[in-house]
Amino acid sequence: MLNILDYEKASQALLEPSASDYYKSGAMDEHTLADNTDAFRRIKLLPRVLNDVSNVNISTRLATLTVDSPLIISPTAFLGMAHPDGELAVARAASASNNIMICSTMANQPIEDVTTSTQSSVWFQLYVYKDKEATLALIERAKNAGCKAIVITVDAPFLGQREQDVRNQFQLPDRLHMSNLHALGHRKLPDKTGHSGLSHYFDELINKSLTWRDIRWIKEHAGLPIYLKGILHPKDAQLAIEHGVDGIIVSNHGGRQLDTSVASIDALPAISKAVNKQIPIILDGGIRRGTDILKALALGAQCVGIGRPVIWGLSHSGQQGVEDILTILQSELKLVMALAGCASISDINAGLIADL
Ligand SMILES: Cc1cc2nc3c(=O)[nH]c(=O)nc-3n(C[C@H](O)[C@H](O)[C@H](O)COP(=O)(O)O)c2cc1C
Repeated sequence: MLNILDYEKASQALLEPSASDYYKSGAMDEHTLADNTDAFRRIKLLPRVLNDVSNVNISTRLATLTVDSPLIISPTAFLGMAHPDGELAVARAASASNNIMICSTMANQPIEDVTTSTQSSVWFQLYVYKDKEATLALIERAKNAGCKAIVITVDAPFLGQREQDVRNQFQLPDRLHMSNLHALGHRKLPDKTGHSGLSHYFDELINKSLTWRDIRWIKEHAGLPIYLKGILHPKDAQLAIEHGVDGIIVSNHGGRQLDTSVASIDALPAISKAVNKQIPIILDGGIRRGTDILKALALGAQCVGIGRPVIWGLSHSGQQGVEDILTILQSELKLVMALAGCASISDINAGLIADL
């Protein structure tokens, strides 16, 4: 198991077909899913030489936090299908290398158990419900559990059309439920013939009339830093700043929402120009190699998030598998930084990108 793509291959055979389809799929023809990784390949590096790289340091700052590496665990739902310990195994792995974990609203394990399983910061990913009280109750619960930030996912008023999930009429296995949503009366996904249960759940319960005004409302109630996840347009990045948002995640939801939307890394330069270092930028989508992290940082991200790679490690060998994924990416980043002439994260800049 030399690289994380080895984990991808090895994990496929270990999963139930409908879980494997759920984890890997993108929306419609999966053009954005493919482009998220292809776009990194199109970007060429222009390395520097003769800068002492005998000691490469990948620790960095994200707002007021110092983190050991610029790698964050993006929120992914239903990790119990990948391993019995699900989100708890991921939280423990995050602890080992001090990575921030963003826990999904749709986790199989309760948020309180996730935060107590790790020394690392846990952020809570929030889907905003039509029911305001339910939304506030989730925020309150995350706060009481010790979450350090709320990440509002803004690219999913409806679920993208993941066709394999529709064909499979995707459902949670009987042994699993949505642990953060019991208080709302939702343990299971609804059944509807000919439909993905998750998509049907979104149709019925998730707020489709969310606007910037609601973001302010959530910020006032939360009393925690607010990140918006799913920003691709520079104008939305500017609006996020105007509405007091603390940071943004440049993301197309791993190609699972609007197919043919731009690859995350291709959206980054214009956003980074619009943000002009006023708030932190995290990028996710298609990070598979240390070079991808280097390119994202060179183009203006402070940190990157990984979604599917964590699931591959988790399905393969639980906590250890996730630790391996994080270690591999971190050591690849160290190596490629050295080869590009960067001894620290602050040495990384747009000059490392060819043809910019
Ligand atoms: C199986 C799966 C479940 C996901 N669940 C959520 C979720 O619950 N909330 C959310 O905001 N994003 C969710 N995402 C999107 C990820 O947070 C992230 O944006 C994406 O996976 C990054 O792309 P990558 O998988 O290429 O690393 C999910 C992605 C996958 C693959």
